[in-house]
Amino acid sequence: MKVLISPSILACDMLKVGREMKRAEESGADWLHADVMDGVYVPNISFGFDFIKAAKSAASIPVDVHMMTVCPQKYIKELKACGADSVTIHHDIAPESDIIKALWEIKNEGMRAAIALRPKFPAEDIKPYLPYIDMALVMTVEPGFGGQKFMSDMLPKIAAIREMSPDVDIQVDGGINQETASLCAEAGANVFVVGTASFRAPDMKEAIDKIRLSAGKYEVE
Ligand code: DX5
Ligand code: ZN
Repeated sequence: MKVLISPSILACDMLKVGREMKRAEESGADWLHADVMDGVYVPNISFGFDFIKAAKSAASIPVDVHMMTVCPQKYIKELKACGADSVTIHHDIAPESDIIKALWEIKNEGMRAAIALRPKFPAEDIKPYLPYIDMALVMTVEPGFGGQKFMSDMLPKIAAIREMSPDVDIQVDGGINQETASLCAEAGANVFVVGTASFRAPDMKEAIDKIRLSAGKYEVE
């Protein structure tokens, strides 16, 4: 599975978002990761649709939106309109049937659909959604803030999901750097959200290249 690197916009210099998106693209980023937080599902508020639209217009790579909100299903059309290419929702925000409906709606709008699991939820929780998703996101920190420490006890969860599906993209998010990306790749992850360790690295291109190289060692066809 192809290794994909998705720098988290949350860690960029917000005073120059346009230039930062270009810098990510020129540094070899595959996607841009946009964290939407509502202050209810997580104890932080980030940015919304207009901001994503502006960020998207500055680069030509896909934008991967991570909805850390209680009602993401209300905003699927808005997400499409602001340029989202992929939408991730958390599975604990609604009953299973509503989540499946939301995944259908995301796909109907021509976007990729993904389910995220907070650290406290087991791998098995992803099972009912596997037929409907392009990607499973294993949170490797408690969602809400960038710059936190990677939780290595999430590695078996990655391996368990990879065991369930050989072809779903598995994304990891939180505390990802060269070393932790390699551990996650070994466990079966192939999509890496990198905030602090990309935008705030001394050399973003070098940081992305190194993460791609260390994760790429475990790439399977
Ligand atoms: C955390 C967000 C992450 C965050 C990652 O809730 O979902 O995407 O920006 O940042 P780092 O890589 O600094 O942990
Ligand atoms: Zn995220």
